Amino acid sequence: MTKAVLGIDVGTSGTRALIVAPDGSLIAQAHHPYEPAHPRPSWSEQDPQDWWNAVQVSVKAALEKASLPSSAIAAVGLSGQMHGLVMLDEKSAVIRPAILWNDQRCIEECAEIEAHFTRERLIDIACNPALAGFTAPKIAWVARHESENRRRLSHVLLPKDYVRFKLTGGFATDVSDASGMLLLDIRKRDYWPDMLRLLGLTSAILPKLYESPEVTGFVTSEAAKATGLAVGTPVVAGAGDQAAAAVGNGIVTAGAVSATIGTSGVVFAATDRLLVDSPAGRVHSFCHAVPGKWHIMGVVLAAGGSLQWVRNNLALVEKAEAEKLGVDVYEVLCRKASVAPAGSEGLIFLPYLTGERSPINDPYARGAWIGLTARHSKAHLIRAVVEGATFAMRDCLEVIRELGCDLREIRLSGGGASSQLWHSIQAGVYNYPVSSLAVSEGSAYGAAILAMVGGEIYDTVEDACEAVIKVTTTTNPVAAEASVYERMFPIYRRAYRQLADEFKALHSLT
Ligand code: XUL
Repeated sequence: MTKAVLGIDVGTSGTRALIVAPDGSLIAQAHHPYEPAHPRPSWSEQDPQDWWNAVQVSVKAALEKASLPSSAIAAVGLSGQMHGLVMLDEKSAVIRPAILWNDQRCIEECAEIEAHFTRERLIDIACNPALAGFTAPKIAWVARHESENRRRLSHVLLPKDYVRFKLTGGFATDVSDASGMLLLDIRKRDYWPDMLRLLGLTSAILPKLYESPEVTGFVTSEAAKATGLAVGTPVVAGAGDQAAAAVGNGIVTAGAVSATIGTSGVVFAATDRLLVDSPAGRVHSFCHAVPGKWHIMGVVLAAGGSLQWVRNNLALVEKAEAEKLGVDVYEVLCRKASVAPAGSEGLIFLPYLTGERSPINDPYARGAWIGLTARHSKAHLIRAVVEGATFAMRDCLEVIRELGCDLREIRLSGGGASSQLWHSIQAGVYNYPVSSLAVSEGSAYGAAILAMVGGEIYDTVEDACEAVIKVTTTTNPVAAEASVYERMFPIYRRAYRQLADEFKALHSLT
């Protein structure tokens, strides 16, 4: 019988189910959308039931499209939005809506955690600073502001692990996703007892830790009825969405780096040993979804998001043109930008439209065009936005190199992998050849690859990636363009440093 695996990605705006053949080809996929709720400014929540509903709908739809018997699914892999706090009571009922990765309510609790351990110790053991997005400070916030909910807390889960609970009845997670809780000793790939003590947590409240390709449980008869999967199908641990996406891009051996541009931009490197940016914590160091490996990751908040801002606010003419031609407005914007030369004739864009995470970690940072002259046209403005977003990615890449990661290869994915302009600007700004892949299907694809290992189709994650992932094109930097960018990049970095105080002053006006 044809065998296949199922990858499920529990995202922030929807859940995706992907059925993949052992050779990596796509058999079927389905997506079911939902929305986060923002009950107050800077709060972000979601009802875990929305995820479970979306999993039922999308898995059923994908199985139907695949026209395979459910018994053909060798294993299921899970991936999901990281950091979210899911709270269950002793009857395993949801206590309150999940508090998500992009919720900023617990800034005060972050400061307290850091003060308790000192930043040095926190970065030495949890390998990351206390960020409001992470899970541990959210638990401290609930203890302070919702003591009754904290009292009822019997199980802490991450978003994809709530789906695992509904599928298998078990409480488990994987080390890559758990790394973003700030509850792990990242070096030991295990919970950090001092942090658990500070938050009053016992290991009984926390999900059991697994390596990503390990089987954590089996589909129950109730879940089989709800999803169309076969009773007893193994469910592997899976990974946080970024580590899963990296597996899907074949970033599983030291020196392999991916640059993924969606709304955010992520520079992700796999490492054989733990590399930590201590004590600065400019990039994240997490356990990788590959057993015994780690990864470093820089997150740019508005990479593609900066071009999206141009599209939403400045592109009336381009929207009309795109409609007339029947093409995507980004295609028209990129075509226009490619008329301007590399370096946009001395125009620099700072892409900090929603503050910035890596490497500057500055919530007050703002966007700016710097160096405007009467000669600059809209083409220059748009090109500078793409270049500025890419400089922000390079800023992360530099920290990763500084930490001792020997760069061997850069693979592109996301929206930035779909346009020739982004390809050539990335090759030039990184001053390094960039390649793209035959299939770039993100986190659900990586979850499916992990299921291939747990489902015993391949022995290791590295073997599975070697067999299924194919590089299609490589773009080399054009020497003259790369040299312009090499001269511009230090100006980009200085421009932010010189404006940082002014950004803070502007923030205090609003
Ligand atoms: C990773 C991160 C996001 C979320 C949502 O650190 O914050 O990737 O996982 O996608």
